[in-house]
Amino acid sequence: MTIDADQLLAALRWRYATKRFDPTKKIPAPIWDALEESLVLTPSSFGLQPWKFLVVMDPNVRANLAPESWNQPQVTEASHYVVLTTRTDLTATDIDAWMNRMMEVQGSSEQAVAPLKGMIEGFVQAMAPEARHAWNIRQTYIALGQLMASAALLGIDACPMEGISMAGYDHVLGLEASGYATTVACALGYRAADDKYAGIAKGRFDRSRVVTRL
Ligand SMILES: Cc1cc2nc3c(=O)[nH]c(=O)nc-3n(C[C@H](O)[C@H](O)[C@H](O)COP(=O)(O)O)c2cc1C
Repeated sequence: MTIDADQLLAALRWRYATKRFDPTKKIPAPIWDALEESLVLTPSSFGLQPWKFLVVMDPNVRANLAPESWNQPQVTEASHYVVLTTRTDLTATDIDAWMNRMMEVQGSSEQAVAPLKGMIEGFVQAMAPEARHAWNIRQTYIALGQLMASAALLGIDACPMEGISMAGYDHVLGLEASGYATTVACALGYRAADDKYAGIAKGRFDRSRVVTRL
């Protein structure tokens, strides 16, 4: 299944960082299900998937996150609100969990995954713990990108949210000492009719400045 290039670009040009969502409009369950699956399907280095995606349904929790988000209205007005959290380290247990899953879904033996396991362990052990967290965070941003592009293709508005207190979120969400920490969030839903940002021209550098063909 493919869409054509014009359809892709139309969706990417239609999307914008939505400031005001229509709080009365909710994303239908099958569409939301697809968006959650787009998170699950996100690729990551070595396939390690060092994340958990928290879909905050409880309005009280969203209200508590608002002051930790510069009171940006998206937190409470959007249909859905996802907090993308990242594993703060990578240990043998994480790598084992992934190897076991590979054996389960690909039917491979312990012997078959051993070389990959050894390579990942060597790679991960050579990093300082902070570097492992930073590496994991880079993977989480891929999920954010995949979620936003998927939303645009489905006609769902979104706003990536980095204007948040990560520590404040961790506290509200009870993540402290969980091995996961807040990285970024994403509000999703339907733009309000009067969101003035919807009509603003896309501010992008010329392609010649950002793309070089060698
Ligand atoms: C990682 C990231 C974090 C962002 N955080 C916020 C935010 O907290 N609040 C907000 O209103 N916009 C936020 N934005 C939106 C950007 O300002 C916006 O994407 C950029 O200006 C380009 O505009 P466009 O997305 O409408 O094309 C964020 C964007 C990204 C990619």
